[in-house]
Amino acid sequence: MKINESEISLQQQAQSFFETSITTKYSYKFSWLGRPIIQYPQDMVAMQELIWKVQPDLIIETGIAHGGSLIFSASMLELNAICGACQDAEVLGVDIDIRAHNREAIEAHPMFKRISMIQGSSVDPEIIEQVKAKASGKQKILVCLDSNHTHDHVLAELEAYAPLTSVGSYCVVFDTVIEDLPDNMFSDRPWSKGNNPKTAVWEYLKTHPEFEIDKSIQDKLLITVAPDGYLKRV
Ligand SMILES: C[S@@+](CC[C@H](N)C(=O)[O-])C[C@H]1O[C@@H](n2cnc3c(N)ncnc32)[C@H](O)[C@@H]1O
Repeated sequence: MKINESEISLQQQAQSFFETSITTKYSYKFSWLGRPIIQYPQDMVAMQELIWKVQPDLIIETGIAHGGSLIFSASMLELNAICGACQDAEVLGVDIDIRAHNREAIEAHPMFKRISMIQGSSVDPEIIEQVKAKASGKQKILVCLDSNHTHDHVLAELEAYAPLTSVGSYCVVFDTVIEDLPDNMFSDRPWSKGNNPKTAVWEYLKTHPEFEIDKSIQDKLLITVAPDGYLKRV
C-alpha cells in the first residue's frame, strides 16, 4: 500500500510521542473497570478487536501485575457472551509473584467469575503443564505474553504457549517496542536493544512458518508497544 505524506508525518509524530511517553511512564496511568492496566489505550482497542474477531473460549496471559489486563480480557469475553458467543469463556493468568493485595482485588472483582490464576514462572515445566491442562478441550485459544521481557524468557514462552494458539487466532507478544527505542531507556532492566521480545519473535518465526506477523495492526495503531508482536496463526 502506498503511504502519503500526511501518513508519513503522522508516523513520525507517533514515534516521537512514543519515545517521550516512555519517560513519563504513560502506560502506568490507566485502569480497566477499576484495576490498573499497564498498557497503551491503542493496544487495548486492538485487543478488543481481536477478542471480538476470534471469539476465544480461553485467553492465556503471562504477566498479571495488578490484574488490569485479566479484567480487561474477562470483560471482553463477558460482552462476547452477552452477544451470544461462548457462555463459559475464560481467562487464565500466570505470574511469578501475585501480590496479596492484587490477588484480593482481582478475586473481589465481578469479572473474577471468568478468571483463574496460577502463581509461578511461566517457563517452569510444571506451570506449563498446568496451563496445557486448562487449554485441553478448548476450541479457540488466544495467547498474550507480557511477563519478563528478555529474549530467552520470551523465546521460552513462545515455545511453550504459542503452539496453544488456535488457527486464525493470535499470540500477542507485548513490549517488542523495546528493540526500537534508545537503549538508555531501560538501563535499570535486564532487557535492552538486541535482548527483548522482538528479537525473540524474530528468532521464533525462523522455524515457525505457522505464524505470521499481522502488520496491519501496528500499521493502523501507529502507537503500540507490540510492533511485530501481533502474531497470527495461519
Ligand atoms: C508488565 S507486567 C504485566 C502487566 C499486565 N499484563 C497488564 O497489562 O496490566 C509484568 C508481570 O510479569 C511478571 N513476571 C516477571 N517474570 C515472570 C515470570 N518468569 N513468569 C511469570 N510472570 C513473570 C511480573 O511479576 C509482573 O507482574
